[in-house]
Amino acid sequence: MSVDLSKIEKLYSDNLEQYGIDSRSVGWNSPESQMLRFQKLAAVIHDKTQPFTVNELGCGYGELLRFFDQEKYAVSQFNGFDISAKMLETAKSYINDERANWIHAPALDRMADYSFTSGIFNVKFEEQKERWEDYIKDTLKNLYAHSAKGFAFNVLTKYVDWEEPHLYYADPLIYVDFCKRELSRYVTLLHDYKLYEWTIYVRREP
Ligand SMILES: C[S@@+](CC[C@H](N)C(=O)[O-])C[C@H]1O[C@@H](n2cnc3c(N)ncnc32)[C@H](O)[C@@H]1O
Repeated sequence: MSVDLSKIEKLYSDNLEQYGIDSRSVGWNSPESQMLRFQKLAAVIHDKTQPFTVNELGCGYGELLRFFDQEKYAVSQFNGFDISAKMLETAKSYINDERANWIHAPALDRMADYSFTSGIFNVKFEEQKERWEDYIKDTLKNLYAHSAKGFAFNVLTKYVDWEEPHLYYADPLIYVDFCKRELSRYVTLLHDYKLYEWTIYVRREP
């Protein structure tokens, strides 16, 4: 299932022009909420002290790698994928790290121990809901296929009392069911933190 990502690419490239290296450029209203998302996603990692490799789909300006370093996770390689060339250029100079590869692509094309994606499913613009959900499921298959140990993702939650028309709010149970039936027996839902969203992580082994 392919959807048109051009408006999404433009949104984030324009944000970067407006705000520079700032959590608002990647759609988050504070650096604290960006970090909280990273903490929840990182729960998939079995042992942060043992060297591991990372893919991130929708890496923005590369803040996830900085988070891992600050929190002393033993990242040995980081592959950041993004559809925005401007984001990747910014990530390259901001992170400036030999462990990092910056790749201009809408899907993963190489293996890592763990794969992550944060926020890429939230803005759907006018895309039809069913098509967007098929796109998400295809992307989850792509993430799992390129993860030797596991992957994690987040989406805005359906448990809200107000919805913006251009955003996508997901029932987490649909995705728990999809991941259990199509990907792995080892699926965890985190929906106990103070943001209007949830995180799922999927492991190959518990
Ligand atoms: C919400 S921002 C999050 C950035 C980063 N994960 C963070 O939290 O700091 C989403 C980023 O993903 C990119 N993006 C959206 N859909 C993508 C896709 N299918 N493949 C690659 N990049 C994508 C956007 O260009 C943007 O830079």
